[in-house]
Amino acid sequence: MGQPPKTGTPVQHIPTQDAYDQWAAVYDTDGNMLQSIDDVELSTLLPSFISSVLSSRPSSSSSVSLLDLGCGTGRNTAKLLQYSWPRDRAIDITGLDFSKGMLEVAGKKLAPLKSEGIGLSLAQADCFPTVANKSASPLPEVQDLSPVDGVISTLVLEHIPVQDYFSTLASLVQTGGYALVTNMHSEMGNISQAGFVNEQGVKVRGDSFAHTVEESAEEAKRAGFEVLKTKERSVEDIDVKEGRVGERGKKWIGIRVWYALELRKVA
Ligand SMILES: C[S@@+](CC[C@H](N)C(=O)[O-])C[C@H]1O[C@@H](n2cnc3c(N)ncnc32)[C@H](O)[C@@H]1O
Repeated sequence: MGQPPKTGTPVQHIPTQDAYDQWAAVYDTDGNMLQSIDDVELSTLLPSFISSVLSSRPSSSSSVSLLDLGCGTGRNTAKLLQYSWPRDRAIDITGLDFSKGMLEVAGKKLAPLKSEGIGLSLAQADCFPTVANKSASPLPEVQDLSPVDGVISTLVLEHIPVQDYFSTLASLVQTGGYALVTNMHSEMGNISQAGFVNEQGVKVRGDSFAHTVEESAEEAKRAGFEVLKTKERSVEDIDVKEGRVGERGKKWIGIRVWYALELRKVA
């Protein structure tokens, strides 16, 4: 394990939604190490998730519905859109997020990637209504929203209490469907939180929680999922040498920064 990185950067803690509205302009280009690690790992995890979702809908005539929960700028929604889907399947992809700024970037990025047979809708909503109101339905308030065959949700869980996160996730996945969740590892989360450094040199961040892999897996099970696989990832020398993460990744070498859960809804 490496030493915690030292930083003298001033930090401004603001509501998460406002933080992402501000971050949106540079989110895709500011060299974020965690997004780079997520990209590397999803290059194998996402195709395997998609083939599980497809096999849960065996009839070639059946459509496949997918949702990106906390889609942000559509970084990973784009990967769903660009996947080589079987031609005989109708694919419906929904992206949900509460940041208008992030969704505006997503809208511009994703529109040119749409192809025939693939439906895309983006909607703005607070996806975790039980955080503000424990007796609310965990299903986000979005018109015509119903549970789907597969949900991806990348780097979002960090911002949400673990129980609220998994009750919403469970409300969005049909029984027999799949979810792929990635998150900042608690080893990194105990040192740093998601955020960006603005033009004034201030690190702007929203709410963050350092959920462990174990508590996330336990809560997923409580919410009705079978945990098919967990994967943890530290930054390695080779990630920097081979340019998988930028220079800013160097300070994280030897620290676990990322994990994933592959889940199947069983209850
Ligand atoms: C680190 S970004 C990840 C975005 C995208 N999934 C990715 O991997 O690049 C976290 C996203 O979660 C969204 N988010 C956080 N809390 C949310 C909530 N309560 N409802 C909807 N979206 C939320 C933020 O607006 C932001 O776009």
